[in-house]
Amino acid sequence: MNTNHSTDASTVIYSLDAFKAFMQEQAQEALGGKAKLALIGTGSRGMYHANNLLQIPQAEVVAVCDIFQPHLDQAVKLFPKAKAYTNYLDAIHDPNVEGVLISSSLDTHAPITLAALRAGKHVFCEKAMARTMEECKEIYTAYQESGKVLYIGLQRLFDPKYLKGIELIRQGVLGEIVDIRNYWYRNNDWRRPLLKPSDEKIINWRLYRATSGGLMTELAAHQLQLGTWVYQDLPDYVTGFGDIMYWKDGREVYDSVSVIYHYPNGKRMTFESIISNKHYGMDEEVLGNKGTLEMAKGLLYLEEPTPASNILQFIQESEQKNPQSLKVAGSSWRPEILYETKGIPILENLQVHDGSNTTGAAVDDGSKGLLESFCNAMITGKSMPMLVEEAYYSCLLALLGNQTMDEHRIVPFPDEYKIR
Ligand SMILES: NC(=O)c1ccc[n+]([C@@H]2O[C@H](COP(=O)([O-])OP(=O)(O)OC[C@H]3O[C@@H](n4cnc5c(N)ncnc54)[C@H](O)[C@@H]3O)[C@@H](O)[C@H]2O)c1
Repeated sequence: MNTNHSTDASTVIYSLDAFKAFMQEQAQEALGGKAKLALIGTGSRGMYHANNLLQIPQAEVVAVCDIFQPHLDQAVKLFPKAKAYTNYLDAIHDPNVEGVLISSSLDTHAPITLAALRAGKHVFCEKAMARTMEECKEIYTAYQESGKVLYIGLQRLFDPKYLKGIELIRQGVLGEIVDIRNYWYRNNDWRRPLLKPSDEKIINWRLYRATSGGLMTELAAHQLQLGTWVYQDLPDYVTGFGDIMYWKDGREVYDSVSVIYHYPNGKRMTFESIISNKHYGMDEEVLGNKGTLEMAKGLLYLEEPTPASNILQFIQESEQKNPQSLKVAGSSWRPEILYETKGIPILENLQVHDGSNTTGAAVDDGSKGLLESFCNAMITGKSMPMLVEEAYYSCLLALLGNQTMDEHRIVPFPDEYKIR
Protein backbone atom coordinates (compact mmCIF):
# COMPACT_ATOMS: atom_id res chain seq x y z
CA MET A 1 0.00 0.00 0.00
CA ASN A 2 1.18 3.51 -0.78
CA THR A 3 0.87 5.13 2.64
CA ASN A 4 1.05 8.58 1.06
CA HIS A 5 -2.50 8.04 -0.10
CA SER A 6 -3.74 6.56 3.14
CA THR A 7 -7.18 7.94 4.01
CA ASP A 8 -7.94 9.63 7.27
CA ALA A 9 -10.13 7.12 9.14
CA SER A 10 -11.98 9.84 11.03
CA THR A 11 -13.38 11.36 7.83
CA VAL A 12 -14.34 8.26 5.84
CA ILE A 13 -18.00 8.18 6.87
CA TYR A 14 -18.33 11.97 6.67
CA SER A 15 -17.08 12.73 3.18
CA LEU A 16 -17.84 11.18 -0.19
CA ASP A 17 -14.30 11.79 -1.45
CA ALA A 18 -12.72 10.26 1.65
CA PHE A 19 -15.08 7.28 1.34
CA LYS A 20 -14.16 6.77 -2.32
CA ALA A 21 -10.47 6.98 -1.47
CA PHE A 22 -10.91 4.43 1.32
CA MET A 23 -12.75 2.00 -0.95
CA GLN A 24 -10.15 2.36 -3.69
CA GLU A 25 -7.25 1.91 -1.31
CA GLN A 26 -8.85 -1.12 0.34
CA ALA A 27 -9.60 -2.73 -3.05
CA GLN A 28 -6.09 -2.04 -4.31
CA GLU A 29 -4.57 -3.68 -1.27
CA ALA A 30 -6.88 -6.71 -1.53
CA LEU A 31 -6.06 -7.37 -5.20
CA GLY A 32 -5.33 -11.02 -5.84
CA GLY A 33 -6.63 -12.12 -2.41
CA LYS A 34 -9.58 -14.39 -1.67
CA ALA A 35 -12.27 -14.10 1.01
CA LYS A 36 -13.49 -17.62 1.77
CA LEU A 37 -17.02 -17.37 3.05
CA ALA A 38 -19.83 -19.37 4.60
CA LEU A 39 -23.31 -18.00 3.92
CA ILE A 40 -25.51 -18.60 6.96
CA GLY A 41 -29.19 -17.93 6.35
CA THR A 42 -30.00 -18.30 2.66
CA GLY A 43 -33.50 -16.79 2.60
CA SER A 44 -34.35 -13.57 0.76
CA ARG A 45 -31.56 -11.29 1.94
CA GLY A 46 -29.07 -14.16 1.95
CA MET A 47 -29.80 -14.87 -1.72
CA TYR A 48 -29.64 -11.17 -2.55
CA HIS A 49 -26.12 -11.12 -1.08
CA ALA A 50 -25.32 -14.43 -2.80
CA ASN A 51 -26.09 -12.91 -6.19
CA ASN A 52 -23.94 -9.88 -5.41
CA LEU A 53 -21.10 -12.14 -4.25
CA LEU A 54 -21.09 -13.80 -7.68
CA GLN A 55 -20.05 -10.42 -9.10
CA ILE A 56 -17.23 -9.87 -6.58
CA PRO A 57 -14.11 -11.65 -7.88
CA GLN A 58 -12.33 -11.81 -4.51
CA ALA A 59 -15.33 -13.54 -2.85
CA GLU A 60 -15.39 -17.32 -2.72
CA VAL A 61 -18.38 -19.06 -1.17
CA VAL A 62 -17.06 -22.30 0.29
CA ALA A 63 -20.02 -23.20 2.52
CA VAL A 64 -23.75 -22.51 2.74
CA CYS A 65 -26.00 -23.11 5.73
CA ASP A 66 -29.71 -22.92 6.51
CA ILE A 67 -32.13 -24.81 8.74
CA PHE A 68 -34.90 -24.62 6.12
CA GLN A 69 -34.25 -27.12 3.33
CA PRO A 70 -35.90 -25.24 0.43
CA HIS A 71 -33.75 -22.19 1.21
CA LEU A 72 -30.61 -24.28 1.57
CA ASP A 73 -31.38 -25.89 -1.79
CA GLN A 74 -31.52 -22.56 -3.60
CA ALA A 75 -28.08 -21.65 -2.26
CA VAL A 76 -26.64 -25.05 -3.20
CA LYS A 77 -27.94 -24.50 -6.71
CA LEU A 78 -26.06 -21.20 -6.92
CA PHE A 79 -22.86 -22.55 -5.33
CA PRO A 80 -22.72 -26.27 -6.24
CA LYS A 81 -19.11 -26.63 -5.06
CA ALA A 82 -19.81 -25.21 -1.58
CA LYS A 83 -20.34 -27.51 1.41
CA ALA A 84 -23.94 -27.51 2.64
CA TYR A 85 -24.72 -27.39 6.37
CA THR A 86 -27.85 -27.25 8.49
CA ASN A 87 -26.03 -26.43 11.74
CA TYR A 88 -24.27 -23.05 11.82
CA LEU A 89 -21.57 -24.33 14.21
CA ASP A 90 -20.48 -26.86 11.59
CA ALA A 91 -20.24 -24.09 8.98
CA ILE A 92 -18.24 -21.87 11.34
CA HIS A 93 -15.79 -24.63 12.23
CA ASP A 94 -15.27 -25.74 8.64
CA PRO A 95 -11.49 -25.19 8.26
CA ASN A 96 -11.96 -23.72 4.77
CA VAL A 97 -14.19 -20.98 6.14
CA GLU A 98 -12.43 -17.70 6.99
CA GLY A 99 -15.52 -15.57 7.42
CA VAL A 100 -19.29 -15.87 7.72
CA LEU A 101 -22.08 -13.82 6.18
CA ILE A 102 -25.10 -14.02 8.49
CA SER A 103 -28.51 -13.28 6.96
CA SER A 104 -30.71 -15.22 9.34
CA SER A 105 -33.51 -14.03 11.63
CA LEU A 106 -32.69 -11.44 14.32
CA ASP A 107 -32.72 -13.90 17.25
CA THR A 108 -29.81 -15.81 15.69
CA HIS A 109 -27.55 -12.80 15.04
CA ALA A 110 -25.89 -12.77 18.46
CA PRO A 111 -25.33 -16.52 18.93
CA ILE A 112 -23.91 -16.96 15.41
CA THR A 113 -21.79 -13.77 15.49
CA LEU A 114 -20.36 -14.61 18.92
CA ALA A 115 -19.59 -18.22 17.97
CA ALA A 116 -17.87 -17.09 14.77
CA LEU A 117 -15.78 -14.32 16.36
CA ARG A 118 -14.74 -16.67 19.17
CA ALA A 119 -13.75 -19.28 16.59
CA GLY A 120 -11.46 -16.69 15.00
CA LYS A 121 -13.64 -16.06 11.93
CA HIS A 122 -14.49 -12.73 10.34
CA VAL A 123 -18.17 -11.75 10.47
CA PHE A 124 -20.62 -9.86 8.30
CA CYS A 125 -23.97 -9.87 10.10
CA GLU A 126 -27.10 -8.31 8.73
CA LYS A 127 -28.78 -5.52 10.68
CA ALA A 128 -30.05 -5.16 13.29
CA MET A 129 -26.99 -6.10 15.33
CA ALA A 130 -28.94 -8.17 17.88
CA ARG A 131 -32.29 -8.67 19.56
CA THR A 132 -31.31 -7.28 22.99
CA MET A 133 -29.03 -4.54 24.30
CA GLU A 134 -27.10 -7.09 26.38
CA GLU A 135 -26.35 -9.06 23.21
CA CYS A 136 -25.18 -5.93 21.40
CA LYS A 137 -22.74 -5.18 24.20
CA GLU A 138 -21.51 -8.78 24.24
CA ILE A 139 -20.91 -8.66 20.50
CA TYR A 140 -19.06 -5.37 20.74
CA THR A 141 -16.79 -6.73 23.48
CA ALA A 142 -16.17 -10.01 21.63
CA TYR A 143 -15.37 -8.06 18.46
CA GLN A 144 -12.81 -5.89 20.26
CA GLU A 145 -11.19 -8.93 21.84
CA SER A 146 -11.15 -10.96 18.64
CA GLY A 147 -9.04 -8.75 16.38
CA LYS A 148 -11.31 -9.95 13.56
CA VAL A 149 -13.31 -7.98 11.03
CA LEU A 150 -16.94 -7.25 11.89
CA TYR A 151 -19.34 -5.67 9.41
CA ILE A 152 -23.04 -5.05 10.05
CA GLY A 153 -25.52 -4.58 7.17
CA LEU A 154 -25.94 -0.80 7.27
CA GLN A 155 -25.70 -0.03 3.57
CA ARG A 156 -26.42 3.70 3.92
CA LEU A 157 -22.80 4.08 5.02
CA PHE A 158 -21.83 2.89 1.51
CA ASP A 159 -24.42 4.86 -0.46
CA PRO A 160 -22.88 7.86 -2.29
CA LYS A 161 -25.95 10.07 -1.88
CA TYR A 162 -25.98 9.61 1.90
CA LEU A 163 -22.24 10.30 2.10
CA LYS A 164 -22.65 13.42 -0.04
CA GLY A 165 -25.59 14.48 2.12
CA ILE A 166 -23.58 14.09 5.32
CA GLU A 167 -20.73 16.03 3.73
CA LEU A 168 -23.05 18.92 2.85
CA ILE A 169 -24.48 18.89 6.37
CA ARG A 170 -21.00 19.10 7.84
CA GLN A 171 -20.13 21.93 5.45
CA GLY A 172 -23.02 23.88 6.96
CA VAL A 173 -25.24 23.94 3.87
CA LEU A 174 -28.30 23.25 6.03
CA GLY A 175 -27.15 25.66 8.74
CA GLU A 176 -27.74 24.45 12.28
CA ILE A 177 -29.47 21.05 12.32
CA VAL A 178 -32.66 21.31 14.33
CA ASP A 179 -34.51 18.06 13.63
CA ILE A 180 -34.33 14.63 11.96
CA ARG A 181 -37.60 13.08 10.76
CA ASN A 182 -37.53 9.41 9.79
CA TYR A 183 -40.56 7.64 8.41
CA TRP A 184 -41.28 4.37 6.65
CA TYR A 185 -44.79 3.66 5.42
CA ARG A 186 -45.92 0.51 3.67
CA ASN A 187 -49.23 -1.10 2.92
CA ASN A 188 -48.93 -4.84 3.34
CA ASP A 189 -49.23 -7.35 6.13
CA TRP A 190 -45.52 -8.28 6.13
CA ARG A 191 -46.49 -11.96 5.88
CA ARG A 192 -44.80 -14.47 3.62
CA PRO A 193 -46.57 -17.46 2.09
CA LEU A 194 -46.07 -20.84 3.78
CA LEU A 195 -45.45 -24.26 2.25
CA LYS A 196 -47.03 -25.77 5.37
CA PRO A 197 -48.53 -24.19 8.52
CA SER A 198 -45.80 -25.56 10.79
CA ASP A 199 -43.26 -23.30 8.99
CA GLU A 200 -44.97 -20.17 10.32
CA LYS A 201 -42.38 -19.26 12.98
CA ILE A 202 -39.44 -19.83 10.60
CA ILE A 203 -40.89 -18.00 7.61
CA ASN A 204 -42.79 -15.25 9.44
CA TRP A 205 -40.22 -14.73 12.21
CA ARG A 206 -40.59 -10.94 11.75
CA LEU A 207 -44.03 -11.02 13.38
CA TYR A 208 -43.04 -12.67 16.69
CA ARG A 209 -41.24 -11.15 19.64
CA ALA A 210 -38.97 -14.12 20.33
CA THR A 211 -37.40 -13.67 16.90
CA SER A 212 -37.98 -10.03 15.96
CA GLY A 213 -38.05 -6.46 17.21
CA GLY A 214 -40.70 -5.65 14.59
CA LEU A 215 -40.63 -2.34 12.74
CA MET A 216 -37.96 -0.96 15.05
CA THR A 217 -35.26 -3.53 14.30
CA GLU A 218 -36.37 -4.25 10.74
CA LEU A 219 -36.82 -0.70 9.44
CA ALA A 220 -35.91 1.90 12.07
CA ALA A 221 -32.46 0.39 12.70
CA HIS A 222 -31.41 1.74 9.28
CA GLN A 223 -32.86 5.21 9.72
CA LEU A 224 -31.94 5.79 13.36
CA GLN A 225 -28.31 5.62 12.36
CA LEU A 226 -28.83 9.20 11.19
CA GLY A 227 -28.87 10.21 14.87
CA THR A 228 -25.19 9.42 15.47
CA TRP A 229 -24.20 10.20 11.88
CA VAL A 230 -25.68 13.71 11.87
CA TYR A 231 -25.75 14.81 15.52
CA GLN A 232 -22.73 12.71 16.58
CA ASP A 233 -24.48 12.47 19.88
CA LEU A 234 -26.80 10.16 21.81
CA PRO A 235 -30.31 11.00 22.97
CA ASP A 236 -30.83 11.49 26.69
CA TYR A 237 -34.48 10.32 26.57
CA VAL A 238 -36.71 8.19 24.38
CA THR A 239 -40.49 8.08 24.34
CA GLY A 240 -43.20 6.78 22.03
CA PHE A 241 -46.28 4.73 21.32
CA GLY A 242 -46.68 1.40 19.57
CA ASP A 243 -49.81 -0.55 18.74
CA ILE A 244 -51.12 -3.48 16.80
CA MET A 245 -53.58 -1.16 15.16
CA TYR A 246 -54.59 -2.63 11.81
CA TRP A 247 -53.15 -6.14 11.19
CA LYS A 248 -54.81 -7.96 14.10
CA ASP A 249 -53.87 -11.40 12.81
CA GLY A 250 -52.06 -13.01 15.72
CA ARG A 251 -48.81 -11.11 15.25
CA GLU A 252 -46.96 -9.97 18.36
CA VAL A 253 -45.04 -6.96 17.03
CA TYR A 254 -46.48 -3.48 16.53
CA ASP A 255 -47.80 -2.51 13.10
CA SER A 256 -47.84 1.18 14.07
CA VAL A 257 -45.04 2.98 15.90
CA SER A 258 -44.10 6.59 16.70
CA VAL A 259 -40.93 7.23 18.67
CA ILE A 260 -39.23 10.47 19.72
CA TYR A 261 -35.52 10.64 20.58
CA HIS A 262 -34.70 13.72 22.64
CA TYR A 263 -31.12 15.00 22.63
CA PRO A 264 -29.42 16.90 25.49
CA ASN A 265 -29.42 20.18 23.51
CA GLY A 266 -33.18 19.97 22.95
CA LYS A 267 -32.93 18.64 19.40
CA ARG A 268 -34.94 15.63 18.36
CA MET A 269 -35.09 12.71 16.02
CA THR A 270 -38.36 10.92 15.29
CA PHE A 271 -39.29 7.61 13.71
CA GLU A 272 -42.77 6.81 12.51
CA SER A 273 -43.96 3.73 10.70
CA ILE A 274 -47.29 2.21 9.78
CA ILE A 275 -47.89 -0.63 7.36
CA SER A 276 -51.46 0.10 6.38
CA ASN A 277 -50.87 3.19 4.20
CA LYS A 278 -47.92 3.71 1.86
CA HIS A 279 -48.67 7.13 0.43
CA TYR A 280 -45.66 8.90 1.97
CA GLY A 281 -43.21 6.02 1.37
CA MET A 282 -40.00 6.42 3.27
CA ASP A 283 -37.27 8.96 3.88
CA GLU A 284 -34.93 10.46 6.38
CA GLU A 285 -35.32 14.23 6.46
CA VAL A 286 -32.61 16.34 8.03
CA LEU A 287 -33.82 19.84 8.87
CA GLY A 288 -31.55 22.82 9.39
CA ASN A 289 -32.29 26.52 9.79
CA LYS A 290 -30.98 27.11 6.23
CA GLY A 291 -32.25 24.04 4.44
CA THR A 292 -33.58 20.49 4.40
CA LEU A 293 -32.14 17.29 3.00
CA GLU A 294 -34.23 14.31 1.98
CA MET A 295 -31.50 11.74 2.41
CA ALA A 296 -33.14 8.76 0.72
CA LYS A 297 -34.06 10.85 -2.33
CA GLY A 298 -30.83 12.85 -2.37
CA LEU A 299 -32.73 16.12 -2.64
CA LEU A 300 -31.82 19.43 -1.07
CA TYR A 301 -34.29 22.22 -0.33
CA LEU A 302 -33.04 25.62 0.70
CA GLU A 303 -35.05 27.88 2.97
CA GLU A 304 -34.19 30.65 0.49
CA PRO A 305 -35.68 32.22 -1.57
CA THR A 306 -36.95 34.20 1.35
CA PRO A 307 -40.65 34.86 1.79
CA ALA A 308 -40.04 38.32 0.29
CA SER A 309 -38.77 36.89 -2.98
CA ASN A 310 -41.55 34.32 -2.97
CA ILE A 311 -43.99 37.13 -2.90
CA LEU A 312 -42.07 38.86 -5.68
CA GLN A 313 -42.28 35.74 -7.76
CA PHE A 314 -45.94 35.40 -6.97
CA ILE A 315 -46.50 38.93 -8.17
CA GLN A 316 -44.50 38.32 -11.36
CA GLU A 317 -46.51 35.20 -12.09
CA SER A 318 -49.77 36.95 -11.51
CA GLU A 319 -48.71 39.62 -14.00
CA GLN A 320 -47.93 37.01 -16.64
CA LYS A 321 -50.82 34.64 -16.19
CA ASN A 322 -54.51 34.81 -15.94
CA PRO A 323 -55.06 35.37 -12.23
CA GLN A 324 -57.86 32.82 -12.31
CA SER A 325 -55.35 30.04 -13.06
CA LEU A 326 -53.03 30.84 -10.17
CA LYS A 327 -53.10 28.68 -7.12
CA VAL A 328 -53.62 30.81 -4.06
CA ALA A 329 -53.78 29.33 -0.61
CA GLY A 330 -54.34 30.93 2.76
CA SER A 331 -51.61 32.03 5.09
CA SER A 332 -49.08 29.51 3.71
CA TRP A 333 -48.99 28.96 -0.04
CA ARG A 334 -45.47 27.48 -0.16
CA PRO A 335 -46.44 23.89 -1.17
CA GLU A 336 -48.19 25.22 -4.26
CA ILE A 337 -45.18 26.95 -5.81
CA LEU A 338 -43.82 24.14 -7.90
CA TYR A 339 -40.22 25.22 -8.56
CA GLU A 340 -39.66 25.87 -4.94
CA THR A 341 -40.65 22.42 -3.71
CA LYS A 342 -38.83 20.44 -6.39
CA GLY A 343 -35.55 19.98 -4.55
CA ILE A 344 -32.01 20.15 -5.86
CA PRO A 345 -30.40 16.76 -6.63
CA ILE A 346 -27.18 16.57 -4.62
CA LEU A 347 -25.48 14.17 -7.05
CA GLU A 348 -25.57 13.48 -10.76
CA ASN A 349 -27.05 10.08 -11.67
CA LEU A 350 -28.91 9.74 -8.39
CA GLN A 351 -29.95 6.17 -7.66
CA VAL A 352 -33.13 6.20 -5.62
CA HIS A 353 -35.43 3.40 -4.58
CA ASP A 354 -38.77 3.47 -2.83
CA GLY A 355 -37.78 1.35 0.15
CA SER A 356 -40.61 -1.11 -0.33
CA ASN A 357 -38.44 -4.05 -1.36
CA THR A 358 -37.78 -6.23 1.68
CA THR A 359 -34.64 -7.97 0.42
CA GLY A 360 -32.69 -5.30 -1.39
CA ALA A 361 -33.05 -2.35 -3.64
CA ALA A 362 -33.51 -2.76 -7.37
CA VAL A 363 -30.89 -0.05 -7.83
CA ASP A 364 -27.61 -0.11 -5.93
CA ASP A 365 -28.22 1.33 -2.49
CA GLY A 366 -24.73 0.65 -1.15
CA SER A 367 -25.36 -3.02 -0.37
CA LYS A 368 -22.89 -4.29 -2.95
CA GLY A 369 -20.17 -1.86 -1.89
CA LEU A 370 -20.72 -2.92 1.71
CA LEU A 371 -20.22 -6.57 0.79
CA GLU A 372 -17.24 -5.83 -1.40
CA SER A 373 -15.65 -3.82 1.38
CA PHE A 374 -16.23 -6.69 3.83
CA CYS A 375 -14.45 -9.13 1.50
CA ASN A 376 -11.58 -6.67 1.09
CA ALA A 377 -11.45 -6.15 4.86
CA MET A 378 -11.19 -9.93 5.35
CA ILE A 379 -8.18 -9.94 3.02
CA THR A 380 -6.46 -6.77 4.26
CA GLY A 381 -7.63 -6.47 7.86
CA LYS A 382 -8.59 -2.87 7.06
CA SER A 383 -12.26 -2.21 8.00
CA MET A 384 -14.66 0.61 7.29
CA PRO A 385 -14.10 2.97 10.24
CA MET A 386 -16.99 3.55 12.67
CA LEU A 387 -19.26 0.95 11.05
CA VAL A 388 -19.52 -1.23 14.14
CA GLU A 389 -20.12 1.72 16.45
CA GLU A 390 -22.77 3.19 14.15
CA ALA A 391 -24.48 -0.21 13.95
CA TYR A 392 -24.27 -0.72 17.70
CA TYR A 393 -25.99 2.58 18.45
CA SER A 394 -28.60 2.32 15.70
CA CYS A 395 -29.61 -1.05 17.12
CA LEU A 396 -29.66 0.30 20.67
CA LEU A 397 -31.90 3.20 19.62
CA ALA A 398 -34.26 0.77 17.89
CA LEU A 399 -34.41 -1.43 21.00
CA LEU A 400 -34.91 1.57 23.32
CA GLY A 401 -37.82 2.53 21.06
CA ASN A 402 -39.41 -0.85 21.70
CA GLN A 403 -38.72 -0.52 25.42
CA THR A 404 -40.42 2.87 25.75
CA MET A 405 -43.45 1.64 23.78
CA ASP A 406 -43.72 -1.59 25.79
CA GLU A 407 -43.31 0.08 29.17
CA HIS A 408 -45.37 3.23 28.46
CA ARG A 409 -42.73 5.43 30.04
CA ILE A 410 -39.97 7.81 29.05
CA VAL A 411 -36.74 5.78 28.95
CA PRO A 412 -33.39 7.49 29.64
CA PHE A 413 -30.42 6.33 27.55
CA PRO A 414 -28.68 3.80 29.82
CA ASP A 415 -25.11 4.89 30.73
CA GLU A 416 -23.88 1.30 30.95
CA TYR A 417 -24.42 0.90 27.20
CA LYS A 418 -22.33 3.88 26.15
CA ILE A 419 -19.24 2.73 24.24
CA ARG A 420 -17.72 6.06 23.20
N1 LIG B 1 -29.85 -4.53 5.02
C1 LIG B 1 -31.06 -4.63 4.48
O1 LIG B 1 -31.54 -3.75 3.76
C2 LIG B 1 -31.87 -5.86 4.74
C3 LIG B 1 -32.94 -6.18 3.90
C4 LIG B 1 -33.67 -7.34 4.18
C5 LIG B 1 -33.33 -8.12 5.27
N2 LIG B 1 -32.30 -7.77 6.08
C6 LIG B 1 -31.96 -8.57 7.26
O2 LIG B 1 -31.53 -9.87 6.83
C7 LIG B 1 -31.90 -10.83 7.80
C8 LIG B 1 -32.70 -11.93 7.10
O3 LIG B 1 -33.88 -11.39 6.54
P1 LIG B 1 -34.64 -12.16 5.35
O4 LIG B 1 -35.67 -11.27 4.84
O5 LIG B 1 -33.64 -12.70 4.41
O6 LIG B 1 -35.30 -13.36 6.15
P2 LIG B 1 -35.68 -14.78 5.58
O7 LIG B 1 -36.67 -15.36 6.50
O8 LIG B 1 -36.02 -14.70 4.14
O9 LIG B 1 -34.32 -15.59 5.68
C9 LIG B 1 -33.76 -15.97 6.92
C10 LIG B 1 -33.16 -17.33 6.75
O10 LIG B 1 -32.44 -17.69 7.93
C11 LIG B 1 -32.65 -19.07 8.16
N3 LIG B 1 -32.31 -19.39 9.54
C12 LIG B 1 -33.03 -19.14 10.66
N4 LIG B 1 -32.39 -19.61 11.73
C13 LIG B 1 -31.23 -20.18 11.27
C14 LIG B 1 -30.15 -20.83 11.90
N5 LIG B 1 -30.11 -21.04 13.24
N6 LIG B 1 -29.13 -21.29 11.14
C15 LIG B 1 -29.14 -21.11 9.80
N7 LIG B 1 -30.15 -20.49 9.14
C16 LIG B 1 -31.18 -20.04 9.88
C17 LIG B 1 -34.12 -19.28 7.79
O11 LIG B 1 -34.40 -20.62 7.56
C18 LIG B 1 -34.22 -18.44 6.54
O12 LIG B 1 -33.92 -19.16 5.38
C19 LIG B 1 -32.68 -10.09 8.88
O13 LIG B 1 -31.83 -9.77 9.94
C20 LIG B 1 -33.13 -8.83 8.18
O14 LIG B 1 -33.31 -7.74 9.04
C21 LIG B 1 -31.57 -6.66 5.82
